[in-house]
Amino acid sequence: MDLKAFFEKQNNKKQLKILTCGSVDDGKSTLLGRLMYDSKNIYSDQLTQTQKESEKYGTQGKKVDLALLIDGLQAEREQGITIDVAYRYFETEKCKFILADTPGHEEYTRNMATGASNSDVAIILIDASKGILDQTKRHTFILSLLGIENIIVTVNKMDLIDFNQNKFEEIVKSFTEISNQFKFKIEKFIPISALHGENVFTKNKNIPWYNGKTLIEELEDISLIEPEDDFFSMPVQWVNRLSSNFRGYSGTISSGKINIDDEIFILPSREKNIIKKILTPSGQKEVAFKDQAVTLTLSKEVDISRGNLICSTNKDNLFTSDQFASHIIWMSKEKMLPERNYIFRFINSQTIGKITDLVHKINVNSFDKLASKELNLNEIAYCKVALNKNIVFNSYQKNKRLGSFVIIDQFTKQTLGAGVIDHELRRASNIAWQKMSINKKLRSSISGQSPCILWFTGLSGSGKSTIANIIEQKLHQIGKHTYLLDGDNIRHGLNKDLGFTDTDRVENIRRISEVSRLMIDAGLITIVSFISPFKSERKMARDLVEKDEFIEIFINTTIEECEKRDPKGLYKKARAGKLKNFTGIDSIYEKPESPEIILNTQMKKAEELADEVLTFLKKNNKI
Ligand code: ADX
Repeated sequence: MDLKAFFEKQNNKKQLKILTCGSVDDGKSTLLGRLMYDSKNIYSDQLTQTQKESEKYGTQGKKVDLALLIDGLQAEREQGITIDVAYRYFETEKCKFILADTPGHEEYTRNMATGASNSDVAIILIDASKGILDQTKRHTFILSLLGIENIIVTVNKMDLIDFNQNKFEEIVKSFTEISNQFKFKIEKFIPISALHGENVFTKNKNIPWYNGKTLIEELEDISLIEPEDDFFSMPVQWVNRLSSNFRGYSGTISSGKINIDDEIFILPSREKNIIKKILTPSGQKEVAFKDQAVTLTLSKEVDISRGNLICSTNKDNLFTSDQFASHIIWMSKEKMLPERNYIFRFINSQTIGKITDLVHKINVNSFDKLASKELNLNEIAYCKVALNKNIVFNSYQKNKRLGSFVIIDQFTKQTLGAGVIDHELRRASNIAWQKMSINKKLRSSISGQSPCILWFTGLSGSGKSTIANIIEQKLHQIGKHTYLLDGDNIRHGLNKDLGFTDTDRVENIRRISEVSRLMIDAGLITIVSFISPFKSERKMARDLVEKDEFIEIFINTTIEECEKRDPKGLYKKARAGKLKNFTGIDSIYEKPESPEIILNTQMKKAEELADEVLTFLKKNNKI
């Protein structure tokens, strides 16, 4: 074969992305090694190195330990577990394979989810001598959640159970019972021995009762052609204005196909239009398909921006809403708290939002639904989400790209979780804004003041309430209309139902932020005195009002000083273990990074500090 023909053949080969999942010791690395070794994708120097390492790590009896062929991460060898997703490549005559090697260890559910979301097919490994383990169940559950349809179950280490057919069939039966629970149809079960190469690439004589395909045959025969989906959709990633008379809309087609002259419509505006040209990196085309990156030009000039969706008019199965129900996998050590603001990033847009209801957590081993107020690393839950603005989306089942999202931390910009959308919620769609004749400006003009929030934050006993109280008196004396919201007082009424867990503190501050916003609207100078220990919720309060209406005042008193004062005897109780989750002791306080005012109660008297705040208000034309 000449070189050109060779490369052409290579390029036309089917490419399959495979995910392998299994438990810690079920021989996954050995199977990967076997796939690489039997497909002759291992170079001889790697083999020698592996032989040496096999001796060093004392893998007696076997000439080459195939598990060690998987170069992966040093840590895997040291800890005996794989700690991240590593990608391996190998190929056969017919097919190229990209294999995501994800860890089986319980802590690393997030890595498996990351690998799964990218894969065409999943291989689940079961150790024949151990049967179905908790991890096997968890992985199957995640695969069902992520809609992976091509699944091959390999029962490995058949040599350890003397290639016994009955035992194999028992495993198949119990696995089928589990997968049936989430309406999963799995038909491909292969008894293998990765160590001996049985039924991986070749059929040896040890399993004569098995008439099916080998693993590699199953993989090569998988068809990736998706059921015909004629619903075209493409999120606009970029509005291309290369020259003054050119305007194109660029993005990757997320479902269906598009032809020149097709009628399309644009969301959320719902305007109709016609496709004029389809431009691709390889030139102008008549038609383009799912996964292709294209630039579309339209016959009518319209206003389309990044994040809009271009789709076919024949089916209206997309939602435009700010609320939906979804399954979320939490991927961060920082726990998820309902009502906390996070960034929700979708394929076509991003916005601030929050999980309003954690309906239930799912025990991924027993599939039981559990009540919970927070979500920890690797946990999965069914949640309701509310966003700050409408977005266009679909259910994950109908369109993976338009039905999935990631959750990002507002401050660190790290990914905290990922989710799949189940369905839209219409809870808010019947509620409209009532227009009022008297507004904030008119209300406050009577008393000649600019409404604002003086937000006091600091430890318990730091002096917040004392200073806030003096300020309110001074404002009252000069005829200003005020209201003082104090943590202890509000907790006797409006927030009586809340305790001091992180979740309750988030809700405490959410309610007070909303109340303060109403008070600002009433034209009042609102003084808030709450520990408000988390920067995320202080930001939430700030973001609810106009920029110059929020004045954050940090009462910078050290914990030692607060504990010395201990006006309510609470520090003493907390130290004695009689009061749990006490701020500064066993519950965190995050200091403000750039408050408008910092007051030091250890240097100055409360009266003096109150005057400093009044001076600030005068200087900023608030009073
Ligand atoms: S916050 O953290 O949710 O903002 P908040 O200001 O409402 O707290 O209430 C704090 C007051 O509750 C404290 O001044 C203290 O008197 C009392 N308190 C009782 N238990 C705790 C606790 N575990 N942590 C902090 N304050 C507590």
